[in-house]
Amino acid sequence: MSTTEALVVEELDPFDDDTFEAWHHVYATAERHDLDAAASVWQVEELRVMVQRTASHAWSGGWTGRLDGEVVAAGWMRTPLLDNTQLAELAVHVLPGHRRRGLGSAMLEVVEAAARRRGRRTTTGLVGWPSTVGPTGEGASGPSFARAHGYDLALTDVQRELRLPVDDEVLASLADDAARAHPTYTLHSWSGPVPDDLVEGWAELTSSLATEAPTGELDLEPEVVSVDVVREREAGIARQGRAKYNTVALSESGEVVAYTDLATTVHEPGRAYQWGTLVRRADRGHRLGVAVKVANLRLLQRERPDIVRLTTYNAEVNTHMIGVNEALGFRPVAWLGDFQKRLG
Ligand SMILES: CC(C)(COP(=O)(O)OP(=O)(O)OC[C@H]1O[C@@H](n2cnc3c(N)ncnc32)[C@H](O)[C@@H]1OP(=O)(O)O)[C@@H](O)C(=O)NCCC(=O)NCCS
Repeated sequence: MSTTEALVVEELDPFDDDTFEAWHHVYATAERHDLDAAASVWQVEELRVMVQRTASHAWSGGWTGRLDGEVVAAGWMRTPLLDNTQLAELAVHVLPGHRRRGLGSAMLEVVEAAARRRGRRTTTGLVGWPSTVGPTGEGASGPSFARAHGYDLALTDVQRELRLPVDDEVLASLADDAARAHPTYTLHSWSGPVPDDLVEGWAELTSSLATEAPTGELDLEPEVVSVDVVREREAGIARQGRAKYNTVALSESGEVVAYTDLATTVHEPGRAYQWGTLVRRADRGHRLGVAVKVANLRLLQRERPDIVRLTTYNAEVNTHMIGVNEALGFRPVAWLGDFQKRLG
């Protein structure tokens, strides 16, 4: 336990329901205050699953900051365990009515100290800001706070949203155009866990997303390739109340050369989130990115007509993927910055 300027910071006990909900309330309220309707908040049950169980590939934990017994600040950290062991991802949130009194700084100090104790040399934080603010986030709370603490903007993402359903004819025409450019590849779509015959290729391709997608100045190394981790993540996703929709492109010899996946959650009816999309380097230039995305969207619209809102994030420099998304009708709603600091 540490006490700074009356803020009492304690490690979060994820099995103490009242404290967990108070901690989540600070996070969710702070995100919604800054991002309004564009806020994409992890739901309490999703975070509870993540923090209660340490997966073999990542540890995550939280901290509460109390003033007079009330939780007003929240800290969170996730540390990869199999790769990127120099890295800690962290987040700090303060209730709107308690800001600019040093509470965020006090929480950050505790979380950074925990990162150091775990042997981490680089910390990163994902910070959102409204689209009305410029691309550097100058003047918005998160970016200003991060910069005041020695963090640099390492990668800028744009959050885009799409209202569903997209007209079937638009999707059919995009799919037909793309199909002409990839006659030797086949597409395969499914909901739920990855079929056994595809899981090795899936593990290989998806583990390269973090380093094959634009990474800006982020200090990242490739993730380990592991079928066990794929299965472990799937079990976690199911416990979180999420459902996955997936499409791959296969080469003539049956290799997984492109993929895309998106997720829905029982805790947010009507919403879906685009996760990864990647085409293997050697197989680029055949419009497989559009092909897998359109096929996946058709799968979602067939199986889940209740979903009306799809959210995605793309690096600002990823013009190709942005072109694909704009063609589908996605429109920008906010910025998301990856801030990074090398701990001294
Ligand atoms: C970012 C956040 C945690 C800051 O909490 P806080 O308690 O207000 O932070 P502090 O009072 O310790 O601020 C420290 C310094 O950061 C900078 N800062 C913080 N908020 C700022 C703002 N809105 N505008 C300009 N500078 C700001 C200032 O330099 C400030 O020092 P000062 O008040 O002496 O000028 C809070 O605004 C928040 O919860 N925002 C939404 C979540 C978020 O973006 N988190 C970022 C990390 S994941």
